[in-house]
Amino acid sequence: MMISETDRNIHSPLAYSMEVSSPARFHQLILRLSDGPKAKGLCMVRKNKQESPFIRASSNEIHKPVMAGEIADIAKKYLSGDTSKVYVDGTLGLGGHAGIILSELPNIFLIGLDRDKSSIDLASKNLAKLGLDKRYSLHNDSFDNFYEYFEGGGYQSFDFMLLDLGFSSFQIEDPYRGFSYRLDSKLDMRMNPNQKLSAYEVINEFSEHDLSMILKKFGDEKFHYRIAKAICDRRPISSTFELNEIIKYAIPAATRRTGGHPSQRTFQAIRIYVNSEFEQLYRGLIKGLETLDPMGLIVVLTYHSGEDRIVKNIFDAAIKGTCRCPETIPCSCGAPKLFGFPIPRKGLRPSEVELKENPRAKSAHLRVIQKLDFGSSSQEIGSAICRLIQENIPLEKYVLSLSSGFKRGTT
Ligand SMILES: C[S@@+](CC[C@H](N)C(=O)[O-])C[C@H]1O[C@@H](n2cnc3c(N)ncnc32)[C@H](O)[C@@H]1O
Repeated sequence: MMISETDRNIHSPLAYSMEVSSPARFHQLILRLSDGPKAKGLCMVRKNKQESPFIRASSNEIHKPVMAGEIADIAKKYLSGDTSKVYVDGTLGLGGHAGIILSELPNIFLIGLDRDKSSIDLASKNLAKLGLDKRYSLHNDSFDNFYEYFEGGGYQSFDFMLLDLGFSSFQIEDPYRGFSYRLDSKLDMRMNPNQKLSAYEVINEFSEHDLSMILKKFGDEKFHYRIAKAICDRRPISSTFELNEIIKYAIPAATRRTGGHPSQRTFQAIRIYVNSEFEQLYRGLIKGLETLDPMGLIVVLTYHSGEDRIVKNIFDAAIKGTCRCPETIPCSCGAPKLFGFPIPRKGLRPSEVELKENPRAKSAHLRVIQKLDFGSSSQEIGSAICRLIQENIPLEKYVLSLSSGFKRGTT
């Protein structure tokens, strides 16, 4: 089944929980959206407070930004007021979170990025429906390049960054992208379709050793040797379903009967490698911590333990800052605490109510860090802390240098 542009448009960004935004306001947003001809007949506004309202694309297509209520609450708590604030959405997707935050906070300007051009096109259409006075600029780029878009708008720093990692349902469900082991498609998995390296080259041309390392490092796959060997023995492999069969018979029968889908870890690992996901997350967070304004926030939603570990390690190191005291005793060295946790250190998980409505949010983990205000020294202390983080947790910890030597550059 091909997903047409029209089908994609109707993944609405306006789906979030009633508990966090007033029902009247939500109703207004829905009505504004329903003015568009594409939305006709698609809006379902429920008056009953128990039921969360959402836009329904067809009987089974709903776009619900994950933990949107919690994120909107945090944004409102820290960004409300008359002074204008800059919000960087590094993973714009369909503009779901962005639409909500811009609608709730009239003092916000959005710099939105997504490395997938089709996401930018859809977000642009969705945001245009909200009548936001063009309080945004959208860019087709990776979020680790976010600061390159400051100059055009005359900005040097920002107040709020949201990274909602991973990919949108419409990307997973697109049979031409090759992200899903549940759809038969050619091996691809590129988030930016102009990039040279795709899953096809990784699967068909990388050495057994390199493949095995990728599965181990990015998928925590216990059977990485067996799967890598089976792949190399059966090449060439051109489709996701061929790859599924090979993985299925490479792992022991007893393991196949338990746990999740046998291909889950392998697909995740290849996707992370193809798209340099860990590297971009690392660079984006370090640059974010450095350029964030005092009292500003970085909010990250992760969906698996690998990416969550990176966020946790970097946030913990930022909080420790230049302090050299042992972990076991309270700090007594007087090092300035430039960063703090505005929500519990271990982060937040989706509510039971959200999980009932949107089971795909199950693995979501929300972490937030805030930069405090040390006046004119904030910038200097921030830079010293970021240098220390890079020394203690070097990027090499999260990337692989492989012998296959393929380039990711664009065509
Ligand atoms: C889960 S979706 C975001 C959904 C969005 N928050 C919303 O409410 O519509 C993740 C998006 O991030 C994009 N993405 C993933 N990694 C990226 C990166 N390193 N730089 C820019 N965009 C990225 C994907 O293309 C996808 O569109």
